[in-house]
Amino acid sequence: MTYHARMRDIEPIRWQDDHLLLLDQTRLPQVEQWITVRHCRDAVSAIREMRVRGAPAIGVTGAFAVALAAQDNPSKTMPTFLRTLEAAAEAVAAARPTAVNLGWAVARCLEVARQCSSPAEARVRLLEEACLLQVEDVRANKALGAHGAALIPDGGTVLTHCNAGALATAGYGTALGVIRAAWDEGTRFSMLCTETRPWLQGARLTMWELQQLGIPASLIVDSAAASLMSRGEVQVVLVGADRIAANGDVANKIGTYSLAVLAKSHDIPFYVAATLSTVDMDTQSGEAIPIEERGASEVTNVADHAVAPEGISVRNPVFDVTPFSYVTAIVTEQGVARAPYAPAFRRFANRARR
Ligand code: MRU
Repeated sequence: MTYHARMRDIEPIRWQDDHLLLLDQTRLPQVEQWITVRHCRDAVSAIREMRVRGAPAIGVTGAFAVALAAQDNPSKTMPTFLRTLEAAAEAVAAARPTAVNLGWAVARCLEVARQCSSPAEARVRLLEEACLLQVEDVRANKALGAHGAALIPDGGTVLTHCNAGALATAGYGTALGVIRAAWDEGTRFSMLCTETRPWLQGARLTMWELQQLGIPASLIVDSAAASLMSRGEVQVVLVGADRIAANGDVANKIGTYSLAVLAKSHDIPFYVAATLSTVDMDTQSGEAIPIEERGASEVTNVADHAVAPEGISVRNPVFDVTPFSYVTAIVTEQGVARAPYAPAFRRFANRARR
């Protein structure tokens, strides 16, 4: 059976009739369960609880959350409609702070609402905008995949961290989009996926996606990366991003920075794949990126099973920042950017506007 025949196109976010369906990523891969979201506040909870996760996926969900807020909003005049909508949108944007896609998508939707002349028009236009964002994300991921495919060496091994696949986007994936595109072009390689403690996105989600794609992959514990690199068993490191500052500093899943430092000291290229919606030109460098800290139980427990003593102190920052000097190149839907990143991002953004 060919790769195409075997693979399923995973699209974790669906609009159906008058509600949103989200593939619950807290249950995967054991259970494939879709949750029904009818109200903005339920979309906010789904984002906070990581039932939907990954920067582009929470951006698209955020846009649908604003559309749901508009449906819930009974105001008959534009000023009161907008005031209520803006309050709801603020809660959506604050659901997770690091991925810029969320705030970016919400701001874009509010702009659409402000251009409408009636609440009824805004309700229709906001839903259309959310659907457009969803389609644009899949399209951008595919374009990004095509640009990045040549970076994957034939016969090599690519190490990835967390999950930057179809599940983390509206579909297709960013880092895994590059992987899929390279595989499609006939390049043959294997993958190493880090578990990605504490939430195990690598073990649960990336391994599940690669299994369905039929791309050979092995799961490793996070701490195995250094040893495997030193033994020449990694040719490329490729990850996604939650926010990229104007200078090219990259916020991504905790542990990404360690991998970048290791890659540099072993002379291994370290690539980042992200759509331009993840590039935040208003944030000059990584120091200004807010880093989400989550609850202690994510660290003290493994799958609801306590492994640490009760009552201990825990730190759980869930993202880190990799300085641009560790990044070999950033793959976007408009091409592959190399340092200096700011002019490349500006060029790409101008090209995208045309
Ligand atoms: O906490 P998560 O699972 O939302 O973190 C996701 C990541 O760090 C991904 O690498 C990133 O969002 C890129 S997804 C295309």
